[in-house]
Amino acid sequence: MARVLTGIQSSGRPHLGNILGAIVPAIELIKQNNEESFIFIADFHSLTSSKNGALRKENTLAVAAAWLAFGLDIEKTVFYRQSRRPEVAELTWYLSCFTPFPMLANAHSFKDKSERLSDVNAGLFTYPVLMSADILLYSADLVPVGKDQLQHLEMCRDIASAFNHQIGEEILTLPEPRISEEVKTIPGTDGQKMSKSYNNYIDIFLPEKALKKNVNSIITDSKELEEPKDPDTCNVFKLYSLIASPDQTAQMRKNYEGGNYGYGHAKKEFMELILEKYADERKTFDFFMNNPEEIERKLAAGEEKAKATGMVLLQKVREKLGFA
Ligand code: TRP
Repeated sequence: MARVLTGIQSSGRPHLGNILGAIVPAIELIKQNNEESFIFIADFHSLTSSKNGALRKENTLAVAAAWLAFGLDIEKTVFYRQSRRPEVAELTWYLSCFTPFPMLANAHSFKDKSERLSDVNAGLFTYPVLMSADILLYSADLVPVGKDQLQHLEMCRDIASAFNHQIGEEILTLPEPRISEEVKTIPGTDGQKMSKSYNNYIDIFLPEKALKKNVNSIITDSKELEEPKDPDTCNVFKLYSLIASPDQTAQMRKNYEGGNYGYGHAKKEFMELILEKYADERKTFDFFMNNPEEIERKLAAGEEKAKATGMVLLQKVREKLGFA
């Protein structure tokens, strides 16, 4: 079997898009896998967008708590904070000297961000090199990611082959991306992809009152209560159907098409389903957020294991490049 590795940035609270698109499928994959997996919180990456240290700390804990709440098996997984393994920064430097400048300049994600953001820093530009180091440091075979990360995975493979080729030895393992088939793009409250950077996310871990407000912020059209409605163009229906059973989804579709069913009703049902379906996860999440030392203890154990694996690879690279 293959070594699975993936990370989530700690640039915001973990949201439904992270959960359905990354956390749940990765946990499933890890269950089916006999080999040890690597799951980390990409807090170094979050510095490309957020400069607030206190917030980063809080978000890092929240992302870790979300993995734990959804049942990540930390016996089978090396679970760690990216920044506690500085080896990755050293490897990033080496890899950056094997990375063609035009490849980074042509990255979709960089071009998109540099048009949208006011803070276009060099970290944003070299983001794919750090991501490659995350993967290559631990010789990962399989990397579950969202569609928007596919190009970064391609770059990682290109960087690894350029390195192996120029060094004359297959030291770095070329990873395969794994896009989970069932997971389509998760829409946000405004219908765009759910993302921290669009501020359109559903945070299932919010206390009830705040969650209600969050769900109520989903944008709908202004059809009257009596009118029949089209479920397939409605963000509430789309989000509901992502977490509902087929029967529940069919029922809501009927309600939409039948009329006398308002968006307020649909939002209320979505909210109730979140509370019911994720009751245990919400409780576990709160437990960890109230006991951050429990999270830290688990991460510290993972950081030790990550060090052992990462140092072996890094040492080989240092030797090959004349630094050891
Ligand atoms: N760039 C990824 C994202 O935003 C997060 C990430 C950082 C990652 N390093 C990684 C994912 C390594 C997989 C492997 O989704």
